[in-house]
Amino acid sequence: MLSVSLAGIKLENPLMLASGILDQNGYTMKRILEKGAGAAVTKSIGKEPRSGYVPPIVSVIEGGLINAVGLSNPGIRNISGEIKIAKESNKPVIGSIFGATPDEFLSLAASMQDFGVDAVELNLSCPHVKGVGTEVGSDPSLVKEIVKTLKGSLRIPVFSKLSPNVNSVLEIANAAIDSDGLVLINTVKGMAIDVYARRPVLSNGFGGLSGPAIRPVGIRYVYEVKKELDPLIIGVGGIENGIHAIEYFMAGASAVQIGTALMKYGCQIFSNISREIGEFMKAEGFQELDQMVGAGIL
Ligand SMILES: Cc1cc2nc3c(=O)[nH]c(=O)nc-3n(C[C@H](O)[C@H](O)[C@H](O)COP(=O)(O)O)c2cc1C
Repeated sequence: MLSVSLAGIKLENPLMLASGILDQNGYTMKRILEKGAGAAVTKSIGKEPRSGYVPPIVSVIEGGLINAVGLSNPGIRNISGEIKIAKESNKPVIGSIFGATPDEFLSLAASMQDFGVDAVELNLSCPHVKGVGTEVGSDPSLVKEIVKTLKGSLRIPVFSKLSPNVNSVLEIANAAIDSDGLVLINTVKGMAIDVYARRPVLSNGFGGLSGPAIRPVGIRYVYEVKKELDPLIIGVGGIENGIHAIEYFMAGASAVQIGTALMKYGCQIFSNISREIGEFMKAEGFQELDQMVGAGIL
């Protein structure tokens, strides 16, 4: 009832661990997969190890979190062992990568493919690191070139994760349309001020907002891109329960990712949401997940 195939990758349910949350370590990914996630996406990985920004890197606000971790990651050479451990779950693992040029993305993606990931997810959308992320993902011709380079060379599917912090998401989605799927959305650029210290809370100043506060933004982008361009979409942003996930399906997503809610509710959240989706489908007369995809589009 809940199984789904994404560009040929079979998931026993449509709930994926989002990039950046407990996913630099093979054992935590394996545990989350064994506890009910349908697939896991790794932390975004670059060419070299990166320590990221100095604390504070996360600020809790009503409705979510603002983070500027700074893409801290162990570097591509050190992630293969973690992927191997995560794959012991016998569930799909997707390698998230970030870079500045098509060649850099290709080299990282080829390594990920050698490490045995089921797909790569291109981080074209981190809002708080210079020279990568949104800076790359807001240039349509560069996005097109990156996707073309990878699609021409890899055996595994390529998913492109887009940013809400660009002038026209439709223009960027169109540039990335040859990907096997689009992931919408990364965090929304935001800031919190410590009024007693009279300065921004985060060491980087601004960061990316995640959690329930951004769900309407994510829903709107999934809806708009599905309606106008009709690609395969993986929805992400603010999902905390089954109804939230179904909202994304009805806006046009075929699967969803969960990040911030994991910190609040623990890895039980995946099996809870699966159960809630199943209950909704039974009550509302849906036999297959596919029947809900785009069902809310006018
Ligand atoms: C602490 C933290 C770190 C993140 N790191 C990454 C990352 O490395 N790569 C990426 O593509 N997205 C990253 N994200 C964004 C999430 O994958 C997701 O797109 C976003 O948080 C919205 O989903 P959520 O509301 O379920 O958390 C990060 C988010 C958080 C909160």
